[in-house]
Amino acid sequence: MRNFLAPSILNSDFARLGEAVEAVERGGADWLHLDVMDGHFVPNLTIGPVVVEALRKVTQLPLDCHLMVNEPEKMVPWFAEAGADSITIHAEATEHLPALVRLIHASGKNGKRIRAGVSLRPNTGLEALEPVLAEIDMVLLMSVHPGFGGQKFMPEALVRARALRDRCDALGLNTDIEMDGGIGASNVEAVRDAGVNAFVIGTAIFRAPDIGQATRDLKTLLG
Ligand code: DX5
Ligand code: ZN
Repeated sequence: MRNFLAPSILNSDFARLGEAVEAVERGGADWLHLDVMDGHFVPNLTIGPVVVEALRKVTQLPLDCHLMVNEPEKMVPWFAEAGADSITIHAEATEHLPALVRLIHASGKNGKRIRAGVSLRPNTGLEALEPVLAEIDMVLLMSVHPGFGGQKFMPEALVRARALRDRCDALGLNTDIEMDGGIGASNVEAVRDAGVNAFVIGTAIFRAPDIGQATRDLKTLLG
């Protein structure tokens, strides 16, 4: 499967966001990962649709929006409208997962298809994915408790990724498996070897002395 490097802007210098995004794009990033937090689902408040809309104008990179919010059904249309290419919601945030996945797929305008992802907190069982696994484009497995960048990688996430990849293979599904939290040069290969093919990396890119070089180095490691 193709590997995707998805730098997460959460720990970037927001006063220089445009320059940082240009650097990751030139460094070969595949997607731009945008962490949306509402102060309820997680104890942090971050970016809204206005930021997505502004970024849409300055980058060609697909915008990979990770919604850590309650009532995602209210917000999916906002992010679709703002220019999201992929919208991931948390299984824990809804009792209507299949309907939400359909809403994401239906929310692209003018023939655009928005990719639908479902994310799980580290302690949520993989069985939560079963009702929608055949429908979704991507699963986002958290390897930290969502809310903040710069946390330590939870190694149990590797076992979960392997189990999920095996399950997808058994069902004949090519679902992208994305992992998010605490990933950097020291563990990205182990994450790939566990069956992950989309890598969200925040601190290790945006807090590096040279953002473009850090992006290139990670791309090289991923092969
Ligand atoms: C955590 C976010 C992540 C995280 C990644 O809730 O979803 O995207 O910020 O950043 P690092 O790589 O710093 O863990
Ligand atoms: Zn994220």
